[in-house]
Amino acid sequence: MKIIEMKCQPDRVNITWQDGHRSEYHATWLLDNDPQHRDQRTGQRLIDIADLPENLAIEGGCYSADGIVQLSWSDLRSTAFPSDWLFEHCPCSEHAEPAQVQLWEASTPGVLKRFSYAGVLESSATRLEWLETIATLGIAFLSGVPTTKGKVLEVAALIGWVRETNYGRVFDVRAVSDPNNLAYTGLSLGLHTDNPYRDPVPGLQTLHCLHSGEGGGVSLFADGFSVAETLRSQDPQTVNTLAATPVRFEFADATSYLWAERPIILQSESGHVEAVHYNSRSIAPLRLPLGKIPEFYRAYRVFAQLLRDGRHVASTPLAEGELVVFDNRRVLHGRTAFSSADARWLQGCYLDQDGLRSQIAVLKRHGLH
Ligand code: FE2
Repeated sequence: MKIIEMKCQPDRVNITWQDGHRSEYHATWLLDNDPQHRDQRTGQRLIDIADLPENLAIEGGCYSADGIVQLSWSDLRSTAFPSDWLFEHCPCSEHAEPAQVQLWEASTPGVLKRFSYAGVLESSATRLEWLETIATLGIAFLSGVPTTKGKVLEVAALIGWVRETNYGRVFDVRAVSDPNNLAYTGLSLGLHTDNPYRDPVPGLQTLHCLHSGEGGGVSLFADGFSVAETLRSQDPQTVNTLAATPVRFEFADATSYLWAERPIILQSESGHVEAVHYNSRSIAPLRLPLGKIPEFYRAYRVFAQLLRDGRHVASTPLAEGELVVFDNRRVLHGRTAFSSADARWLQGCYLDQDGLRSQIAVLKRHGLH
């Protein structure tokens, strides 16, 4: 982006760009981001703030036709910034990365979107669309994934990095005779997020259907962010109560005892829903003063009732060779019951959330085919 005007003051530089945007850069920020202080090979900073003098003033500056901004400083040093870098890193809120979240309800068109596994392998453009759907809707499906044991790990490698848990690197969801979790029975499971007793909570979950069984076991999904925002519009006090009350979640079996405390709705300081943690199987006895019990249980009940509202619950059978990926801190999942004698078999794994963002950024950086 071309510079139209640049003004230097001792504590700041103001730039007006060709598109009319105005940027303001503080002197300390500019000094801290001096490209000379970066390693050429890795791009990483070689110094920390204590290496820089305090209260340096900008004495002057100019910009060249080839897009270099030169600044001179009160200690006689000079710095040079590519103007494109300054434009890209403009610290104003307009240049902040836009949130990708798109809320949905059961009737939202295209919400349980299916992509062809072969298409995702063949085309990076299709792979990017699949990954961006996971990021924006919090859920996307693949069809035609070979039903071989462990295949889920190969698919996971297209998304990011696998998180091993107490259930292993890969877990099998099927009815067994000695379950350590109700997921490994034929019982129906109400909508929930997985492993809220882990710290941190696994970010993404995949489930790959190796055998769909004889019937039942229909998968259920709901957008927890959408549920929370619906609730906020109807009853903000309930959201505030759920966001302000730490809930203890626990899991114990022969080889593990895991617990963590977190609110059912995690909100940012600005009031945005950042995560939903909901799993009635693992909510431990609450440690709340008597006076806070009625209000928490009222809010908890309202939230639980909303999760049973068909408006929010999208259902789909998982066919053999289908694989679903969803944001475990946003999208709640569940299933209808199936016979414990049934051979229904899903294989799953967890992934870190930031791997998804990384894959999207790398695909965009390398160009698509
Ligand atoms: Fe689950």
